[in-house]
Amino acid sequence: ANEEENTGNVKRELEKVFDLALKATVRNETDVRPLIAACTAKFGDYQCNNAMGLWSKIKGKGTEFKGPQPVGQAIMKNLPPSEMIESCSVAGPGFVNVVLSKNWMAKNIQKMLVDGIETWAPKLRVKKAVVDFSSPNIAKEMHVGHLRSTIIGDSLARMLEFSNVEVLRRNHVGDWGTQFGMLIEYLFEKFPNSEDANETAIGELQEFYRRSKNRFDSDPAFKERAQQAVVRLQSGEPKYHEAWAQICEISRKEFDKVYKRLRVDLEEKGESFYNPYIPGVIDELSKQGLVEESQGARVIFIEGVNIPLIIVKSDGGFNYASTDLAALWYRLNEEKAEWIIYVTDVGQQLHFDMVFSAAKRAGWLSADDSTYPKASHVGFGLVLGEDGKRLRTRFSEVVRLVDLLDEAKNRSKAVLIERGKDKEWTEEELEQTAEAVGYGAAKYFDLKNNRLTNYTFSFDQMLNDKGNTAVYLLYAHARICSIIRKSGKDIEELKKTGSLVLDHADERALGLHLLHFSEVIEEALTNLLPNVVCEYLYNLSEYFTRFYSNCQVVGSAEETSRLLLCEATATVMRKCFHLLGIVPVYKI
Ligand code: ARG
Repeated sequence: ANEEENTGNVKRELEKVFDLALKATVRNETDVRPLIAACTAKFGDYQCNNAMGLWSKIKGKGTEFKGPQPVGQAIMKNLPPSEMIESCSVAGPGFVNVVLSKNWMAKNIQKMLVDGIETWAPKLRVKKAVVDFSSPNIAKEMHVGHLRSTIIGDSLARMLEFSNVEVLRRNHVGDWGTQFGMLIEYLFEKFPNSEDANETAIGELQEFYRRSKNRFDSDPAFKERAQQAVVRLQSGEPKYHEAWAQICEISRKEFDKVYKRLRVDLEEKGESFYNPYIPGVIDELSKQGLVEESQGARVIFIEGVNIPLIIVKSDGGFNYASTDLAALWYRLNEEKAEWIIYVTDVGQQLHFDMVFSAAKRAGWLSADDSTYPKASHVGFGLVLGEDGKRLRTRFSEVVRLVDLLDEAKNRSKAVLIERGKDKEWTEEELEQTAEAVGYGAAKYFDLKNNRLTNYTFSFDQMLNDKGNTAVYLLYAHARICSIIRKSGKDIEELKKTGSLVLDHADERALGLHLLHFSEVIEEALTNLLPNVVCEYLYNLSEYFTRFYSNCQVVGSAEETSRLLLCEATATVMRKCFHLLGIVPVYKI
């Protein structure tokens, strides 16, 4: 038979089987899609939820069925034989509960161990995506909000990449706009000789920004020159362009330090890049009749929103929205991306809603969000201080990112030293572990919350080794690795020669959770929610703990199988860490 290959995604596999059963049950209904979900109750592992919906579709049409329950019975009876399924039952108004075959489960997990976790990657319809994330503004320092965007965006990009989507990781830095007039003018004033204006001389760019802003606000003559400078920069005068490039370069170096620490890859295409495309794009939109005049500005009206999207200001200048329209056009037409994802605070939601609506009206994006090309805004909430207010420090408006990372790392290192690791490990191992734990903890603490909710920042909670933290999970992973190491067995050999069984209830429960991996990642991607992966990872460690406390591994009759189950758990944990941008540790 022309059987499709097993995807490692249990839900998808069951959909294939139930699709046949549904077609055999109601021959006249052609557009019925199987509704399969993991069970929350104890009646089975998965359930098929089609009976009720089908019943309401067919009941007026002279069907032989007497209600949803018999429809469920018929679906069950029509299931083709499948080695996946151990048994089925029908409950309530026709839910078909499926108990998976534990042999099939075990075989699948072992197959993953041999062929690699990549075989469990979700299969998406999209080939190329843009993730627009981090995107700080030049001369203004990166702050905790940008940290959130960097961490969330990186995780989404990793999930897409794991799913074989080509991802353009875009840093849409704010490198264009009127603030450059005052920055350039201040630079000229401070360093009349351009050679002197280097990184060390300028120092903290944020401070430089503040001082030039003070000049701008207090001296009308300076203000006048700054406004002139914007015009001269935008008309491409070399001296102004060079000063601009110099300021950007200093900022870039600062940003890169953070990306390097976080091990985040990003490719900068700042706002300035799209500037030359704006007139053409506005032309195209105008030709389609989308652009109207309103109080001297050129705008696009959006249905259901009472303010229009301004795309040319009344002074003729372009703005954030003009740039975003040009960037969207470029990403769709030049870069041929099918899914464009923007990661910013929820405060920008209206802006993106309006830009996307305009693009739909222009026919750039599919009108229906379930098909491509599509754009998604990934909004996130605030980080609060322990006083419940937006996180700030005494010294600056926002907590400096680097300080935050330093502190996380230093605290982790102190704990490791307290545990005497400085005597066991080399200095390098100590550093690497402290960094993996510290930075991992900062990332996980952010990602584990639903991104839309505000969360309260706390070093103590973030670095707690008992709760739902990266510290706890990294330690759990390291412990599994040490169980395998200490067994003295060659795990690569066992993968090929040993065999995995799931006889004990706790082995089976752990195995079932492992098999949920692929569908969980798919769900996380569909809804753009990394916290779904965190929750899965945390539950995995709980299933493992239950298994490990009730099933002896080393020295038992089932040692080989149980070592393989340990290895499968560690493998899936590592992939979750990877998708969250966390570096695993192997010993602790
Ligand atoms: N620079 C903006 C900020 O700091 C974020 C840019 C997001 N991306 C975009 N295409 N608008 O708020």
